[in-house]
Amino acid sequence: MRIKNLNLKNFRNYFSETIIFGSGLNVLYGKNAQGKTNCAEAVYYLCTGTSPRAKRDKQLIRRGEEYAEISAEAEGRYGGVEIYAKITENGREIRVNGNKITRNADILGNLFAVFFSPHELRLIQDGPDERRRFLNVSISQLSRPYYIALVRYNRILEQRNNLLKEKNLNTVYDLLPVWDEELCKYAATIARQRADFITRLAPVAAEFHSKLTDGAENLKVSPEKKYAGDEEELKKRLFNELSNNYDRDIRLGYTASGPHRDDIDIEIDGADAKLYASQGQTRTAALAIKLAEVEIFKELSGEYPVLVLDDVMSELDLPRRKKIAQLSGDRQTIITCTHAERALYGLETTKIKIEGGKVKR
Ligand SMILES: Nc1ncnc2c1ncn2[C@@H]1O[C@H](COP(=O)(O)OP(=O)(O)OP(=O)(O)O)[C@@H](O)[C@H]1O
Ligand SMILES: [Mg+2]
Repeated sequence: MRIKNLNLKNFRNYFSETIIFGSGLNVLYGKNAQGKTNCAEAVYYLCTGTSPRAKRDKQLIRRGEEYAEISAEAEGRYGGVEIYAKITENGREIRVNGNKITRNADILGNLFAVFFSPHELRLIQDGPDERRRFLNVSISQLSRPYYIALVRYNRILEQRNNLLKEKNLNTVYDLLPVWDEELCKYAATIARQRADFITRLAPVAAEFHSKLTDGAENLKVSPEKKYAGDEEELKKRLFNELSNNYDRDIRLGYTASGPHRDDIDIEIDGADAKLYASQGQTRTAALAIKLAEVEIFKELSGEYPVLVLDDVMSELDLPRRKKIAQLSGDRQTIITCTHAERALYGLETTKIKIEGGKVKR
């Protein structure tokens, strides 16, 4: 997958700009607060339909303007694709190859990218919600059924949580099994696909990790143990787990088990990385996991995703930076950094200087 150009209109600090990317390594460089991350954010938005940092789409509109437009032309194994998004105060319109999409799910799978940011490098140090986010963003791009299950699951979960706060307990006990039947259907899809994804990811991540540590350390990534079995079995198990805990959930006023509480097991040399690993170790492991994610995308979609590395080079040591740069040989990579030279290592690159929301030509 390759993004040919990115067009930004009233997006963040951009007024009207086109960024033309090369097919290999692209380096977006410039001083702080010039619009480099904004550019990575725009790509992320076209891939996933959400921003990695804005709570509301409205924040993406250049201050003082009424709307923002982002579009990109990309080239994939099935030919060209054009994605366009217009964001206004009250909503948005998304077009794929000129056709307006009606479901959010339809934005997914048109443009594939894997994102690294300092945020992703904290994948292991941060809480389980970050790891779930990693799984959700990644698997949603690869599987629409997953994304749809996730949206429905969250909707029913919210209703279930409201029900748990209801005063009339008879109503609560009557309705819970009804909600849970529906909830567990989606929960099982989510849990199954996450477990499959992690199982696929694990050996690849271990291999990258071994390379990054010169074989000194052993990384083991695994899904939660309770997720063995097929979707039907999982559904039953999740349903029983909820049924056995009605009282707990009513007391708490929310649903305390299910995929929205799950985590990934990550061990380095047999010890829980979240508890015992040093900062450097967790970063290396996170990097190995992200590099593995790229390979899984290739395996499942048939082509390499675009790699977007926002500001990660400065957080890694030279051998690890080189490793990343080398990987971008046969795939498109977009790197943001403040000093172009330091990130390059003499490799062939397209350098793009960003200054005050403009490409400096
Ligand atoms: N909605 C908006 N309207 C106008 N300007 C905005 C909007 N949102 C963000 N900005 C501005 O965009 C600028 C650039 O942000 P960005 O995060 O892309 O910087 P950067 O080049 O990645 O910098 P750094 O090197 O510090 O990461 C900031 O000055 C910010 O104030
Ligand atoms: Mg930035």
